[in-house]
Amino acid sequence: MEPIPPTPLLTPYKMGQFNLSHRVVLPPLTRCRAYGNVPQPHMARYYCQRATPGGLLITEACAVSETARGYPDVPGLWTDEQVEAWKPIVDAVQANGAVFFAQVWHTGRATTAGFDGVEIHAAHGYLIDQFLKDSANDRDDDYGGSLKNRCRFATEVITAVAGEVGAHRLGVRISPFSDYMDCHDSDPEALALHVIRGVLNPLGVLYCHFVGPRMRVNPDDGKLALQHMDMVLPFRRAFMGTFMVTGGYNQKAAQLSPTPMRTLLAMDGCSWRIPTCQSDLRGTPR
Ligand SMILES: Cc1cc2nc3c(=O)[nH]c(=O)nc-3n(C[C@H](O)[C@H](O)[C@H](O)COP(=O)(O)O)c2cc1C
Repeated sequence: MEPIPPTPLLTPYKMGQFNLSHRVVLPPLTRCRAYGNVPQPHMARYYCQRATPGGLLITEACAVSETARGYPDVPGLWTDEQVEAWKPIVDAVQANGAVFFAQVWHTGRATTAGFDGVEIHAAHGYLIDQFLKDSANDRDDDYGGSLKNRCRFATEVITAVAGEVGAHRLGVRISPFSDYMDCHDSDPEALALHVIRGVLNPLGVLYCHFVGPRMRVNPDDGKLALQHMDMVLPFRRAFMGTFMVTGGYNQKAAQLSPTPMRTLLAMDGCSWRIPTCQSDLRGTPR
């Protein structure tokens, strides 16, 4: 009998110092259940349910200052109380063998809580994205106008965080094609390539978390464009590190995607379109 080829997404991958046992990543998913911005004990259960030995989990976006909060009851990382509350959650996830990165909006104190690494949220119309995109950035100083100028703030933030935690433990999420919060760009391809070649590669950032063009909404019918994964190939080729793609992948699309060399796939576990929880990957439903 012919041996069954391994499912590409379930093959191991070495991401820098991290030995991942498969390539399905839990993406950051804001839950607004960290009451008073303090991580709650129930979050250990939530993340552990999605932890697999050698799997990569990214936290919901964590605010790193009082003024960085975009929604109520998102977890914070700017007080000692918040950092201490994260520690047992991080410990529990790591005890399950998973790798745990904190997604942050600005440079902060993420790693004091014991996370394996940090992901900078430079996507979805939040502060860094507002500098990157020409629909939102109307500055006429050194931080506006040319691509280089619009990328200056991102460069400074990413450089500062890389200096703090090390580029080998740093991921950056960008969404050049998205238009959340009316934040879009007239030339997303050029923007993406500039960020990748001009900012992420020179710094040696561990991974680029790319919200792909599949998430672009078709203005005629309001539906997602959902193009083939080939759409992201130029960006994957341009980035020297691990490329993590997200946005609009269901199980079928993920299986159709080319063998993911240097590529991880972050899929939205809350829609349960693909197994991203521990029990599904282990084949023991709960
Ligand atoms: C409920 C919900 C919360 C989300 N929270 C975040 C977040 O905190 N940070 C972030 O970068 N993206 C966030 N996203 C976007 C997801 O990480 C993911 O990129 C997006 O859902 C596209 O993947 P999908 O098509 O598999 O859902 C969120 C999405 C959903 C549905």
